[in-house]
Amino acid sequence: MAKEKELDVSDPSYLHLLSAFLAMEPPDVVISFARECGGDSITETAQSFIWHHCISKADVKWQGPYLKRFIKKLIVEIESSGGVVLDALYERKLEFKLQCSLNMLEGDTGCSIWPSSLFLSEFILSFPDIFSNKCCFEVGSGVGLVGICLAHVNASKVILSDGNLSTLANMKLNLELNHLRTGMQLLDHHTNCNMVHCVCLPWESASEDELCYFTPDIILGADVIYDPSFLPHLVRVLVVLNFTLLSPREEVRAGREFDASQHKVMSNATQNAEFSSDPSVKGRVAYIASVVRNIDTLLYFLSLAKQSNLIVTDLSEKVKPFNFLPYIRSYPQSSIRMFRISY
Ligand SMILES: C[S@@+](CC[C@H](N)C(=O)[O-])C[C@H]1O[C@@H](n2cnc3c(N)ncnc32)[C@H](O)[C@@H]1O
Repeated sequence: MAKEKELDVSDPSYLHLLSAFLAMEPPDVVISFARECGGDSITETAQSFIWHHCISKADVKWQGPYLKRFIKKLIVEIESSGGVVLDALYERKLEFKLQCSLNMLEGDTGCSIWPSSLFLSEFILSFPDIFSNKCCFEVGSGVGLVGICLAHVNASKVILSDGNLSTLANMKLNLELNHLRTGMQLLDHHTNCNMVHCVCLPWESASEDELCYFTPDIILGADVIYDPSFLPHLVRVLVVLNFTLLSPREEVRAGREFDASQHKVMSNATQNAEFSSDPSVKGRVAYIASVVRNIDTLLYFLSLAKQSNLIVTDLSEKVKPFNFLPYIRSYPQSSIRMFRISY
């Protein structure tokens, strides 16, 4: 076995690694310097340097989301090349516990974890700035993974919804397993990242009044485009959630300060993601991830959306989140489409 290179912090490779980390270069770049330090592998010495000189000294408040992405990517890189990961790094690794059914086709569909929610979760964790400090509302939330990720990236309010009562009960259990409180106090002014609101919302019976109440900044959905009979209801829900602009008085009634900027453009939501800085995107925005199992069902959804003046943009080619969650072989990350819906 090749002898591990001794740690010499004045070695230019280590200085490059440290500078790249401090400059918050993309994790891949920092990792490539880490590999150079170890002579083509991320040795324990290089990991120890990263731990002591980069991670432990980072300002979590400022660099927190970047740090999480970096550590996750680093661990995946070390593990996939058969290396040994330092325990200290594992302790910073993100772990969520979920109770879900292993058979997607048995019982309630919402008690299984579907590939699009893995994708949407990776998207949230890869581009946290889009969601932090935003009120986020998910339709057809199932086991609740997307909500857990939204809480993790500090969305100001997380509202999960589903039309199935046993799915909702399982979702609440999962939130509690991950130390999140569940509640219904939607009017609460006070933002509390540990609180996730769970709402029973069957699309076919959700009234406009009820929907207008939520006033989210961002709407999300994973694997909700599959049953043609529900699609007209789903599109109606998206229309009302996305494009109901409240008057200042109604904003106050809905428990939020009136902010004129929310009535304008969502374009500067993030500097990270080219796809969300499109100046043509006005109003609220929805991100819907979907596996296309039946093209007719998707085309039907698109035609209903068009009739309702929704603009559906396929972001699949532009959106490349980190790939670190366990997809089933028949639905790898690349088989999932990501749609942005705007007005
Ligand atoms: C295929 S599962 C996807 C669950 C989760 N989003 C995921 O990706 O793991 C579809 C979800 O939508 C919910 N759903 C289906 N039809 C619905 C309706 N008409 N109203 C509300 N929720 C519905 C189901 O209960 C289920 O949780």
